[in-house]
Amino acid sequence: MSVLFQPLAQRSLTLRNRLVVSPMCQYSARDGVPGDWHLVHLGSRAVGGAAAVVAEATAVSPEGRISPDDTGLWNDAQAAAWEPVAAFVRAQGAIPAVQLAHAGRKASTHAPWRGRGAVPEAEGGWTVVAPSALAFDATYPQPQALDDAGIAKVVDDFRQAARRALAAGFEIAEVHAAHGYLLHQFLSPLANRRDDGYGGGFDGRVRLLLEVIAAVREAWPERLPLWVRLSATDWVDGGWDVDQSVELARRLAPLGVDLIDVSSGGLDAGQRIEVGPGYQVPFARRIRAEAGVATGAVGLIETAQQAEAVVAAGDADLVLAGRVFLRDPYFAAHAAQALGIEPPTPPQYLRGW
Ligand SMILES: Cc1cc2nc3c(=O)[nH]c(=O)nc-3n(C[C@H](O)[C@H](O)[C@H](O)COP(=O)(O)O)c2cc1C
Repeated sequence: MSVLFQPLAQRSLTLRNRLVVSPMCQYSARDGVPGDWHLVHLGSRAVGGAAAVVAEATAVSPEGRISPDDTGLWNDAQAAAWEPVAAFVRAQGAIPAVQLAHAGRKASTHAPWRGRGAVPEAEGGWTVVAPSALAFDATYPQPQALDDAGIAKVVDDFRQAARRALAAGFEIAEVHAAHGYLLHQFLSPLANRRDDGYGGGFDGRVRLLLEVIAAVREAWPERLPLWVRLSATDWVDGGWDVDQSVELARRLAPLGVDLIDVSSGGLDAGQRIEVGPGYQVPFARRIRAEAGVATGAVGLIETAQQAEAVVAAGDADLVLAGRVFLRDPYFAAHAAQALGIEPPTPPQYLRGW
């Protein structure tokens, strides 16, 4: 019996299995509006049997985009353009999910295949914001430190984006607090040097994320799950670490967070990551065991057997996979086949299996 292909209940939803498409930027939107690419990209992975498909880091405000080509949910035109995408994913039996994001000091950068580092204002770049006026590195934009009004706007932008995500038909919202983007910048003492109520000790550094989650939960209905992606560690001495992640997860769960999606890194250019198969799974395991909250494991989990073992061991409640889904939209159906389970497939494709 496979545990990877057991359904998972989350609030009013049932995920048909435990394999989820990890959010992946496509750098293919215009003015934040998703298009045909997003429909086909996300739709084909729903056809391929994934339990949920998480749409890429989607900016809650224009200044929160990683690149000029990111998707957004800061206006109603964007929400309307997401509607057919979410509906198609839903019609295939997968849960449409979206990652709500603000890139902070890592905003206004080029899409990877268009260049590196900051996009100049003359080429459509913009002024970026952060907890403190510290650039990620010399190639990134110099940020402005957010004042109280700027922080209040961030909280409200997440709230409004959650409301639009609901209107668009998404059924899981994931708040992006990982990979060195704005909310992670506030968490980490390496990027947050504030001396007001949003910086300093642990309580100050986690405050913005807790406020964002409370605001999103107000807009996001009780019946639908809310996830948070964390970088469990900065992989830098003196940075954010797993102990702090466990403590944060303990505080997030009572606010209505249903799953911590456990990634790592991205905050500091000096990070030294020990990469290997399943290298972030131990973080998901610790957070699940010590904070008593459901977790998702992600990072170089690329075979059916590996994903099955993660769930079977109780390291995580589900597995998110990224790059393998880029190579193989049918990774979930192929994983089922490899485990001797009937592959999840739409009836149109039954004869192919
Ligand atoms: C092309 C690409 C785009 C990505 N964009 C995002 C993103 O928008 N949000 C995010 O949290 N992670 C993003 N990631 C990270 C993935 O979600 C995932 O955590 C990472 O690739 C590790 O999983 P994997 O080894 O299964 O690929 C991206 C990864 C890739 C390859």
